[in-house]
Amino acid sequence: MTGTARATRPIDAPMPEEGGWTSYFSHLECSVTGERVEADGLRGLSPAGKPLLARYDLADARRHVDRDMLARRSADMWRYRELLPVPHADACVTLGEMMTPLIALREGGGRLLVKDEGRLPTGSFKARGQATAMSMARHFGARRVAIPTNGNAGGAVAAYAARAGLGAWCFCPMETPAAHVGEMLSFGAHVFRVAGMIDDCGAIVRQGVERMGWFPLSTMQEPYRVEGKKTMGFELAEQLGWELPDVIIYATGGGTALVAMWKAFDELEAMGWIGSARPRMVAAQSTGCAPIVQAWEAGERQATRWDNACTVAAGIRVPAVLADFMVLDVLRQSRGWAEAVSDEAILASQAMVAASDGVQMCPEGAATHAVYRAALARGDISRDERVVLFNCATGLKYPMPEQAGIIADPGAIDWAAIGDPL
Ligand SMILES: Cc1ncc(COP(=O)(O)O)c(C=O)c1O
Repeated sequence: MTGTARATRPIDAPMPEEGGWTSYFSHLECSVTGERVEADGLRGLSPAGKPLLARYDLADARRHVDRDMLARRSADMWRYRELLPVPHADACVTLGEMMTPLIALREGGGRLLVKDEGRLPTGSFKARGQATAMSMARHFGARRVAIPTNGNAGGAVAAYAARAGLGAWCFCPMETPAAHVGEMLSFGAHVFRVAGMIDDCGAIVRQGVERMGWFPLSTMQEPYRVEGKKTMGFELAEQLGWELPDVIIYATGGGTALVAMWKAFDELEAMGWIGSARPRMVAAQSTGCAPIVQAWEAGERQATRWDNACTVAAGIRVPAVLADFMVLDVLRQSRGWAEAVSDEAILASQAMVAASDGVQMCPEGAATHAVYRAALARGDISRDERVVLFNCATGLKYPMPEQAGIIADPGAIDWAAIGDPL
């Protein structure tokens, strides 16, 4: 591992340290038409109704920052601030988004790595996206934010809104795990369970924009969540000595991080920090909700809505994907693929990794492991390839096994029931 970063400092605003604080963010661009949009206020979709992407003056950035400078900075996502949109340290809304570890699983002989995003504030990668989105929303004057969520995004929005001093409204499907709902409530958000899917929650958020004065933080509908999630790609490259892995498997709902990492790799190449080699990007979904897999298998660039979506992996229960064409383009360009696994396979992977390696994967993260095993068995991934599985959240916020033994009388222990004696 490279990047001998300095010890963590107290969390307030990130300190202007090595190289000061300069962002080379220049403007926004429509992901479909390429139309330029100035970044001088709160922005949602482009005039064409498509996601906006942030663009940077990378030629200038390249003249002012290098990999050695990065290595001397604090081990958090703000070490990449030149390639993030937040204009200065005081505009940062941060809870300490540290670099997350890469853990080698025993079964992979050092080549199978889990990037454990469960270590981030609020226990998921959503912290990265909300740190940048909330910073920019506050910077441009938002007072109230709203989000449709399957759980983890809502937890992050609630926490970062509290940190930023903004009001937060979260709308989640009925089946959202109780710990996620409790987490949002604990941060003082207004939380509503909705008898519908996440796109029904999204429709409520859209209706409340005028009426309630909400700034919507919905997936891909504002430009800055993707920017925070890019740091997953920056960090991975830096941790692997600026050499990308052969394969990345990512549990895909809205697909933000797939799009974000792909963008990150292009920016790193423009900075001269990596070469042109790219990993095969693989989208893992559940057979209970697999719109991207269906579109991939049909050779389409647009996904159709998945009816009656149902899976234990709540974060990827996303029946309609706004950025479908962007996700499918990444899979194609990277020579990757999309693959669905059953909930049984997801739960088996979760139990297997926990028992064999002590790594607590969330069901979505476990889906990436189940896809890895299936691809390995088919020969689509070989044992000597370096593979990174993204565990995007801690497993601790999901239902856990409950069948512990009971000792009713500590004075009369039935040792035979406890286990085999030595
Ligand atoms: C743990 C976890 N993994 C993956 C995803 C999917 O993320 P995306 O919608 O960016 O594809 C989510 C989304 O909620 C999630 O919570």
